[in-house]
Amino acid sequence: MDKLEIQGGVRLDGEVRISGAKNAALPILAAALLPHATLQIRNVPRLHDVKTMIALLDRLGAGVTVGENCQVEVDPTSTCEFTAPYELVKTMRASILVLGPLLARHGRADVSLPGGCAIGARPVNLHVDGLRALGADIEIEGGYIRARADRLRGARIVLDTVTVTGTENLMMAACLADGRTVIENAAREPEVVDLAGFLTAMGARIAGAGTDTLVIEGVERLHGCDYEVLPDRIEAGTYLVAGAITGGRVRARNARPQHLDAVLAKLRDAGATVTVGKDWIEVNMNGRRPMAVDIRTAPHPGFPTDMQAQFAALDAVAEGVGTVVETIFENRYMHMLELRRLGADIRIEGHTAVIHGVDRLSGAPVMATDLRASASLVLAGLVAQGTTEIQRIYHIDRGYERIEEKLGQLGAHIKRVPGGSH
Ligand code: UD1
Repeated sequence: MDKLEIQGGVRLDGEVRISGAKNAALPILAAALLPHATLQIRNVPRLHDVKTMIALLDRLGAGVTVGENCQVEVDPTSTCEFTAPYELVKTMRASILVLGPLLARHGRADVSLPGGCAIGARPVNLHVDGLRALGADIEIEGGYIRARADRLRGARIVLDTVTVTGTENLMMAACLADGRTVIENAAREPEVVDLAGFLTAMGARIAGAGTDTLVIEGVERLHGCDYEVLPDRIEAGTYLVAGAITGGRVRARNARPQHLDAVLAKLRDAGATVTVGKDWIEVNMNGRRPMAVDIRTAPHPGFPTDMQAQFAALDAVAEGVGTVVETIFENRYMHMLELRRLGADIRIEGHTAVIHGVDRLSGAPVMATDLRASASLVLAGLVAQGTTEIQRIYHIDRGYERIEEKLGQLGAHIKRVPGGSH
């Protein structure tokens, strides 16, 4: 397995181009199963999770052509299989996103239950209950969700908890249902809005995207379209923190500042000068050490759980004491233990991590445990003295396109060390 090797201590300075959003590309690719025509999707990031979703579409019989320049063409008309098997779902929970589209378009879907994962239980009960409310007949058997329906019927669904992929699955299914569906307590994440934009471009009738109430008038069929995926706010946020943590300056190009309000506010609290344009964001620490910030994760527009680990790394070297409270995923503190291996002073009390900033971290071998946890280790490695070696970086490749090249462009001393199969 590949490793990343980082020599810490370089103040980053430069520009980085942000890729398409993983969490928008995945539901959009799943939604490509819905229409009766071929479609073009642009700005698709080259990531391991995207490859997994493409492999799943291929397995279902859809024709997928990956072109140059991050463009993917999907011809869903040849879809002839309706099972998302365990081997694929276990490597990527977002495979659950094919459940709604397969059921709505073909009347059947067998999707393996994702099971537990490193950041908590992550159930899918709200996906299942919502589809049942739309008239699906669903059994859980042999580790699979087996869903059947003739035509789904519009319904009013009140989600118990705000769920991103749950909202997406139900919104996709409702597009082809008979009648009106209202989803209350819907997720408001920009990626949900982007998916709604894609569905609308295929002829779906959706109102309220970006609010907590979605109203979907079902249509009989959807047509093809040409759509560009929005930029990845989490990737942008991660590079901006990389600028801040090293006391440097980083400009993220092809980014949408309005999607990062909560994150930019925390960077300002940390002492950074933040400047934004229509499609760029710049963070400049002017050589200063960041000040500790308090983080509490919440559904959008609150502070994103996917940026929590990166700010824990920032707090680890900041001046003062910062706290991190994770309210979305109960187990998302694994990176804290690895950060301690680099010398961070972190105490976990219940669901709060108390982080006393230290003057310096020192490089060590560490292990990536999940996607964003790995990002926090990379950030810590950028400021740690000496060499930090990060193992199991397949987690990083799931969500960051060519991270070592992009950080390298900013001046970081980072390289990928290819490994064997183990
Ligand atoms: C998505 C993102 C992930 C992000 C997360 C929260 C994708 C592909 N992934 O994950 O990067 O960290 O949103 O912003 O977009 N829940 C239930 N029952 C359900 C579904 C969820 O109880 O049926 C709970 C979860 O356990 C969790 C909370 O709802 O506590 C939010 O999870 P959810 O928004 O569903 O996360 P994902 O969609 O899996």
